Amino acid sequence: MTRTQAATPRARTPAGATPAMVAPRGEPAAGQPSRWAAARESVRDRWEFLKGFVHHPNQVASVVASSARLEAQLVRTCRLPGARCVVELGPGTGGTTRALLRALDAQARLLAVELCPEFLARIGERIHDPRLIAQHGSAEQIADFVAAWDLPPPDVVVSGIPFSTLPAATGERIAARIASVLAPGGRFVAYQLRAHVARAATPVLEPPTCEWQWLNIPPLRVFSWTKPVHPPSPTEHPARRGQRQLQVREGALPVGPWSPQDGPRRHDDS
Ligand SMILES: C[S@@+](CC[C@H](N)C(=O)[O-])C[C@H]1O[C@@H](n2cnc3c(N)ncnc32)[C@H](O)[C@@H]1O
Repeated sequence: MTRTQAATPRARTPAGATPAMVAPRGEPAAGQPSRWAAARESVRDRWEFLKGFVHHPNQVASVVASSARLEAQLVRTCRLPGARCVVELGPGTGGTTRALLRALDAQARLLAVELCPEFLARIGERIHDPRLIAQHGSAEQIADFVAAWDLPPPDVVVSGIPFSTLPAATGERIAARIASVLAPGGRFVAYQLRAHVARAATPVLEPPTCEWQWLNIPPLRVFSWTKPVHPPSPTEHPARRGQRQLQVREGALPVGPWSPQDGPRRHDDS
């Protein structure tokens, strides 16, 4: 059962529910729709996604959902095996959610937090997996939702929410809340075109890695931060700490409009 709207936040998985009902990409599982039905649902997903973009362009920030290549890169970057709790911010119509569920352990939980009620309804129609909690609300409420659902500190938070269209202060607040709710050693993975998310998250986590995914519309960067296992030493010189926080360990390709040499965040650039 996919839970939506947090009607009964502390309810547990119903007895007898099967742990995984999400088939590998392209393969219908027992009781799953035929290929034709799957193709029809996929067209409907695209349509719902496009409608969501037309109604909330700044919130959705993309005309199409993530590509299979990007989904696969996210799953690799998240390193899901062994994770007990994963939070997805901005699941959209659920393509990335299904990819995460395919890779998650049978006992893991995935809390998906989505602002758009129509997208959430689509997830409820499409995904029937007892590991999933589909929650209506904002990424800003991440800590409240983790507590309300009685989940352990997340091992991974993965986000597609567009930090570039958020007021800078809101982006910083969300990044700080993600950093505080993550388990020590946990990861924050964000896929974005622009680097606003790096300015918000790097000061509160270890410097990120960053790799482009070109086979997506538009091409996106996948950033990944780790929460230190031990809090930073209070004796670390502030200048050294600032330098460390602004350092970006890049992937094979340049980070783009923002680089560590740009210095601290400027709230007005895009
Ligand atoms: C670029 S779409 C990504 C959708 C999907 N994960 C994918 O990759 O295809 C961004 C999603 O974030 C959602 N979103 C935007 N701001 C949000 C917020 N503050 N809290 C939760 N979800 C948000 C949007 O409604 C949209 O579904």
